[in-house]
Amino acid sequence: MINFREEIIKILDEKIDGLDAKEIDKMIEVPPNYELGDFAFPVFSLAKIYRKNPAMIAEELAGQIDSKYFEKVENKNAYLNFYINKSILTEEILKETVNKKEDFGKSEIGKGKNIVLDYSSTNIAKPFHIGHIRSTVIGDSLKRIFNFLGYKTVAVNHLGDYGTQFGMLIYAYKTWGNKEEIENDPIPELLKLYVKVNEVAEKDAEVKEECRYWFKELENKNEEAVKIWKWFREISLKEFNRVYDMLDIHFDSYNGESFYSDMLPDVIKEIRDKNLLEESQGAEIINLEKYDLPPAIIVKSDGTSIYLTRDIAAAKYREENYKPDQIIYVVATQQSLHFKQLRAVLKEMGEDFWDKINHVAFGMVSLEDGTLSTRRGKVVYLEDVLNKATDKVREILDAREEEQGQKIENKEELAQTVGIGAIKFQELFNGRIKDYTFNWDKTLSFEGETGPYVQYVHARICSLLKKGDFDINNEIDPSLLTEESEINIIRSLYNFTDVVVDACEKYEPYFITRYTVELAKNFNKFYNQTQILVDDEKLKNTRLMLCYAVKNVIASGLNLLGIKAPEKM
Ligand code: ARG
Repeated sequence: MINFREEIIKILDEKIDGLDAKEIDKMIEVPPNYELGDFAFPVFSLAKIYRKNPAMIAEELAGQIDSKYFEKVENKNAYLNFYINKSILTEEILKETVNKKEDFGKSEIGKGKNIVLDYSSTNIAKPFHIGHIRSTVIGDSLKRIFNFLGYKTVAVNHLGDYGTQFGMLIYAYKTWGNKEEIENDPIPELLKLYVKVNEVAEKDAEVKEECRYWFKELENKNEEAVKIWKWFREISLKEFNRVYDMLDIHFDSYNGESFYSDMLPDVIKEIRDKNLLEESQGAEIINLEKYDLPPAIIVKSDGTSIYLTRDIAAAKYREENYKPDQIIYVVATQQSLHFKQLRAVLKEMGEDFWDKINHVAFGMVSLEDGTLSTRRGKVVYLEDVLNKATDKVREILDAREEEQGQKIENKEELAQTVGIGAIKFQELFNGRIKDYTFNWDKTLSFEGETGPYVQYVHARICSLLKKGDFDINNEIDPSLLTEESEINIIRSLYNFTDVVVDACEKYEPYFITRYTVELAKNFNKFYNQTQILVDDEKLKNTRLMLCYAVKNVIASGLNLLGIKAPEKM
């Protein structure tokens, strides 16, 4: 497809002496509305080179540019505004639609590059709660975005399946636990034990010591400790996998923290041999003063290992085994310090891949009556949220069946697709960093700019294509698409890949969420204003081709968010 931006760079590179193509590329902007053109180039910085006032330079340049790709180039407030030739654009988009079909917009810019994505990373024996939805859904979307752009990805669920809390749980189970009760309702029962042992250990130093002892025993591979721990892990994963299945989110690796436990002695030895360890109150630490960071504890005073040390081992393992270009950690902002320390420690160790460590942070989810806290047992289970959303859609579908006196095909599947899609869509509607408060009503409201709205437009187009006997081989004439609503759609389709690239570079799936809503709205405008199934065969087929293009891009956009696009709704 013609790259209009590249054309602008070529033109300006030829005309302007003081700037090279790269600099020009960086300066090109996309104006906030099409009245100001499809692209704009600020001329201010040329004033120095030309020793003339910017408006004059812009005026002169505008007069000199003559390219078939642009219907006009204008000076507006010292910006050169480029207006793409709409008939060339329309022709290009429709040609691309025929050639690429469902793959419209895909790119190969990431070819040959590997990305490790560490996300979801739930904790064994603890609830898979609403707080985890962010990492899970953002991480999955990033994986899809990278793949769409040709990158290879390794999706890792760095399970929290190791650490002092397992000493606590083993102690609690041995002291108060009941096997049968746990098997019947694993996570809530384990959570009860966890809450109780936290309460008791807080007041009773002896119990605290016992808990420490049991984690040490686990690290020493004491048979009893390992057996109980394995069982916790198994029953928890079974619960989690039910939720992952509902979400249709899966991983290439479930190597959690415990996976690295055998590598820890070597890692610690390496750090020690490099003379990086200092003793501090019985623990062994790395001083990170020169990074303006608090010291990193590598070995605790009781000799047991720690979250950070396991992450050092994990990073080295990933570097060695996956040869990644980036290792992305989709983890809450609360852990910023942890990842800063991880980078600094790797740098201190002389690992030149330290700067591949990339913490993609996100804000907190809290509950209306305070923060989520597993330690105090205050949680909203993600599974409940997904079930409620599905129930609500099912009710709507039931009512519709009643009203129309007609059964809906695959009702259950549709209820899940729409209900869970709505949750994901809402989750990916805003930037990552903002904190938010979970609210049942808001979560279950499907009004306005929501997943169901976009899914519905997709289904509507599918039925339109059927009704109009759409065939990809039908003869079309791009020059027939001249209505403003049609041109708006064409422009939007042209931007699709750029939006995905932008989302990828900034790790912000919400760019795509917003884009799909805009495209769906643009389509509805067109649909309401224009008769699509007209008598004139060529016009009808051309408009249907436009619809088909929109359908593909909406489906791709939703797919990049991990949301299914139903053909009927
Ligand atoms: N399990 C951790 C938590 O729930 C997140 C792990 C993130 N990944 C990592 N490699 N540290 O807080």
